Amino acid sequence: MQPRVTTSTLLKMKQEGKKITALTAYDFPFASYLDKAGIEIILVGDSLGMVVQGKENTLSVTMDESIYHTAMVSRACKYSMVIGDMPFMSYQGSLDRAVENAGRFLKEAGATAVKLEGGADVCPVISALAKAGIPVQAHIGLTPQSVHQMGGFKVQRDEERLLKDARDVENAGAFSVVLEGIPSPISAKITQTLNIPTIGIGAGSGCDGQILVLHDMLGINDRFLPKFVKKYADIAKIAGQGLESYIKEVKEGSFPSDEYEYK
Ligand code: KIV
Repeated sequence: MQPRVTTSTLLKMKQEGKKITALTAYDFPFASYLDKAGIEIILVGDSLGMVVQGKENTLSVTMDESIYHTAMVSRACKYSMVIGDMPFMSYQGSLDRAVENAGRFLKEAGATAVKLEGGADVCPVISALAKAGIPVQAHIGLTPQSVHQMGGFKVQRDEERLLKDARDVENAGAFSVVLEGIPSPISAKITQTLNIPTIGIGAGSGCDGQILVLHDMLGINDRFLPKFVKKYADIAKIAGQGLESYIKEVKEGSFPSDEYEYK
């Protein structure tokens, strides 16, 4: 069996020019598929608010919900690194609260690291967590928790600010950074500038790795998909077909047939 992915594995992959694969997962069965397939990073994203809980955005996801889902994912993983996503308002109030909440992901949910959104503004939090021995993945560019401040989910194009945010989170102690909704030339430049690995989503091919929301890329639900999502499977369609067959067979009495009955 391959040794478990660590922050050093990811750094080495960047140095050797090997691409890093990442996806989100929120429960045991899907996390098992990802772990067995050899995905390096599983993020238990607060996107769970949208793709699992059916909400408009990620803002209402709570610490307890995130811990609950992260623990299910961790139980399934022997190879992948599990990262817990810090919910909106779980790290903004005070540094002590941020450390306490981040610590819960490692102590109660079996995660290796946490992710949080923001650039220069959240550097004091990143430093405090790093000092407490908690690996932090930063997340800059289109940061969904700031949807109201950004006036919607919008591509971010301020190159100077993005480069500064990227340098600042690296200097604050982040081991990696997610680049979301950033034009490809800018994310390629950030990737070349930083020593830590960049993981892109809607940020082009110049990043050190890629992440997508699992429910989007496997077609688990049929919500609107942004331009950057490639659909690798259509699970909603396959599930619909299976359900239609079941309903038909129960109604016409052909299920259960002999082979599914106890004698
Ligand atoms: O919550 C999430 O799933 C994320 C990824 C899209 C990076 O933050």
